[in-house]
Amino acid sequence: PGEAYGYLRNGRGLSDQWADSVVVRPRTTERNITVHKTLVLGFAISILTLIIVTIIAVLLSVKFEECTGEPSGRPASGNHTKFNQTRDSQVHHRGEEHGIQPWKLLRLPTSLRPIHYNLYLTVFMDNFTFHGQVSIEFECLNSTRFIVLHADRLELQRAIVYTGERRRGALKVHRQFKYPANQVLVIALNGEMEPRRSYKVNLTFHARIEYELLGFFRSTYPQLGDKRYLAVTQFSPTHARKAFPCFDEPIYKATFKISIKHESSYLSLSNMPVEVSEPDEEGWVTDHFARTPRMSTYYLAWAVCNFTYKETLTNRGVTVTFFTINLMYYWILRR
Ligand SMILES: *[C@@H]1O[C@H](CO)[C@@H](O)[C@H](O)[C@H]1NC(C)=O
Ligand SMILES: *[C@@H]1O[C@H](CO)[C@@H](O)[C@H](O)[C@H]1NC(C)=O
Ligand SMILES: *[C@@H]1O[C@H](CO)[C@@H](O)[C@H](O)[C@H]1NC(C)=O
Ligand SMILES: *[C@@H]1O[C@H](CO)[C@@H](O)[C@H](O)[C@H]1NC(C)=O
Ligand SMILES: *[C@@H]1O[C@H](CO)[C@@H](O)[C@H](O)[C@H]1NC(C)=O
Ligand SMILES: *[C@@H]1O[C@H](CO)[C@@H](O)[C@H](O)[C@H]1NC(C)=O
Repeated sequence: PGEAYGYLRNGRGLSDQWADSVVVRPRTTERNITVHKTLVLGFAISILTLIIVTIIAVLLSVKFEECTGEPSGRPASGNHTKFNQTRDSQVHHRGEEHGIQPWKLLRLPTSLRPIHYNLYLTVFMDNFTFHGQVSIEFECLNSTRFIVLHADRLELQRAIVYTGERRRGALKVHRQFKYPANQVLVIALNGEMEPRRSYKVNLTFHARIEYELLGFFRSTYPQLGDKRYLAVTQFSPTHARKAFPCFDEPIYKATFKISIKHESSYLSLSNMPVEVSEPDEEGWVTDHFARTPRMSTYYLAWAVCNFTYKETLTNRGVTVTFFTINLMYYWILRR
């Protein structure tokens, strides 16, 4: 109809040139439309390709991180502006500068290194629970405001973080939460910790002594017609986190000083000999064990039991103590 109208108007005295343009217009519009169609199709295909490539890149980067265990958290390609849109926008650490949340990585971020743990446990054999206080001294290697460490099945109270150096040095805790998918506890501070400085985090927790061969668990055995109980640990490979909050990866070697408070009808054992055993309130004893050498968390062990033992000295001067019940026996070596 447009064409017909053009001819009609032409017939009423418009110039030929004008008429031509009028007549031609519909055809050019048609071409424009086809051009637009290919353009749009091209755009759609390129956008689709871009999306697919991005998805593959992201998947590959995740896979790559899983394989190498390199918790660098760097985006796979270029500057991903979309990583900007996160809550924690003012973080500067490399693993975090693009808003990657370090607790979502399978491995702990490498910005902190534990040095020493002071662990104080109270073991209740009547209701199979334990209460613990841990003070972890760690060094900051790369500035970060997140303390990410392992904790599983533990009921935790609010952490206290402070610098070992300054007298007043308590650091404000902004937020503390668990990320159960990776069995970690995250303590987000208000400010950043500085590299080459040492800090301490104090945590109080309690948990059950489960009837299961993991973490700090309980077991039973019959003796003289009675059912006897013991509580013992199995931390290898990744169960120390069920007994106390820690950097539960073998590369994080540290020293440990353990104290165990228990009923005096039981005895306690650990990697190191008891340094001091002090009577506590009525019917309770606290055993303070010597500081361990630098070692991984999964080497740590302790037990609260009612075993009998025999001690002997080898001709090379090593004291060997056998702790035993009927058929099971546990032994430790002491130099
Ligand atoms: C990415 O960011 C870095 C520094 O933030 C900058 O030097 C570089 O030019 C950026 N690359 C692109 C492709 O924008
Ligand atoms: C992302 O962050 C960088 C640096 O913090 C900033 O320069 C840039 O404008 C941000 N981009 C967006 C899209 O917010
Ligand atoms: C277990 O017993 C101790 C004292 O005997 C008590 O302090 C603790 O709250 C008890 N725990 C539970 C879970 O009942
Ligand atoms: C942290 O724990 C350690 C050892 O349990 C204790 O000596 C220290 O006073 C605690 N610090 C704070 C600030 O509570
Ligand atoms: C972290 O710190 C170490 C030494 O303190 C340094 O070699 C490394 O480059 C730092 N890494 C980042 C991502 O800043
Ligand atoms: C520990 O063993 C002694 C002697 O076998 C026994 O008298 C005592 O009741 C036991 N204590 C517990 C808590 O099992």
